[in-house]
Amino acid sequence: MKRRNLLKNAFFWGLGAVLSWPLFAFVQKKRYRPPREVRISRDLKADEFIVEPEFVLFQSEKGPLAVSRTCTHLGCRVNYLPEKKIFLCPCHQSRFSPGGRYISGPAKKDLAVYKVTPMEDGHGVTVYLPA
Ligand code: FES
Repeated sequence: MKRRNLLKNAFFWGLGAVLSWPLFAFVQKKRYRPPREVRISRDLKADEFIVEPEFVLFQSEKGPLAVSRTCTHLGCRVNYLPEKKIFLCPCHQSRFSPGGRYISGPAKKDLAVYKVTPMEDGHGVTVYLPA
């Protein structure tokens, strides 16, 4: 009799753990995570840009601008074409302006723009990427 109860309890605890896993995963995903910081320790001149794996950093009239390289259609990595001054997605040819604005293609949203702050010593910037 005790063995039967033990097996029954183990079965229900296991079932409870399996069924609560999606809720646990959802809560973990919603938990706050601090942004990742990428430090670029050099100053950009006007019309100059730096291509990083996750973003392109421009020097705009309003200051430094970090535009995501993740396409808003299906997540391919977009390339910046300086001669045409556009971002072009190699997967399905979506196009975006240097500011990340959607121009054409299957992606319907703009590219993400990340927060950029000047470094404390005055040379370079820190880009804040989502965790
Ligand atoms: S993934 Fe970029 S256009 Fe489809």
